[in-house]
Amino acid sequence: VISGSTRAGSTNSAFAASAVAWPPDGVDVVAYDGLRRLPHFDPDADGDRVPAEVARLRAALEHADAVVFCTPEYAGTLPGALKNLLEWTVGATVLTGKPVAWVKVAADARRGDGAHENLATVLGYVQARIVDAACAHVPIGRDHIGDDGSVDDPALRAAIADAVSAVLA
Ligand SMILES: Cc1cc2nc3c(=O)[nH]c(=O)nc-3n(C[C@H](O)[C@H](O)[C@H](O)COP(=O)(O)O)c2cc1C
Repeated sequence: VISGSTRAGSTNSAFAASAVAWPPDGVDVVAYDGLRRLPHFDPDADGDRVPAEVARLRAALEHADAVVFCTPEYAGTLPGALKNLLEWTVGATVLTGKPVAWVKVAADARRGDGAHENLATVLGYVQARIVDAACAHVPIGRDHIGDDGSVDDPALRAAIADAVSAVLA
C-alpha cells in the first residue's frame, strides 16, 4: 500500500496503516514508508546503481503481488512526491503487469478526481494492470484516526481489508 501523503496525521496514510494492522486473512500487507526519503527522480541516477531508497522501493514493488494507492489531490493532480515515486518505477518496469488499484478516502467521492485521473494515466503508461473493480471509496475522516495513526472504527477497518482483498481477488 502506498500513501501519496507525507503529512503527519494523514487520512491516506491512515488507510495504509490500517491495512497493515487489520489485513485480510492470509494477506501480508506492507505500507511503503519511504516517500519522504526518495530523492528527486534523475535520469542520470537511474541505472545499475540507484540511490538506496530507490532500490528499496523497487524491491518492495517487485515482491508485491498487488499495489493499492491511496492519495490526496494536490492542485488538481497527484502530489509531486507520489509522481516522483512513480517516475522511479518507469525504467525498472516494476509495475508492468502488476495488479493495482486506488482507494479514495475523501468524504466526498467526487473530490480528488484529478489525482486519480492522473494516477490512471501514469499507471497506464507503465502498463500496470488497473483493477477497476477494486478502486473503492472508503471515507476516512480525521476524527476516525487513533493515536497510532490507524483508524479506530471497526466498520472502516473491515472496509479497508475488503479494499485490499478486492485487488488481490
Ligand atoms: C498543497 C495542497 C493542495 C491541495 N489541492 C487540492 C485539490 O486540488 N483538490 C482537493 O480536493 N483538495 C486539495 N487539497 C486538500 C487535500 O487533498 C486534503 O486535505 C486531503 O484530505 C489531504 O490528505 P491527507 O489527509 O492524506 O494529508 C490540497 C491540499 C494541499 C496541502
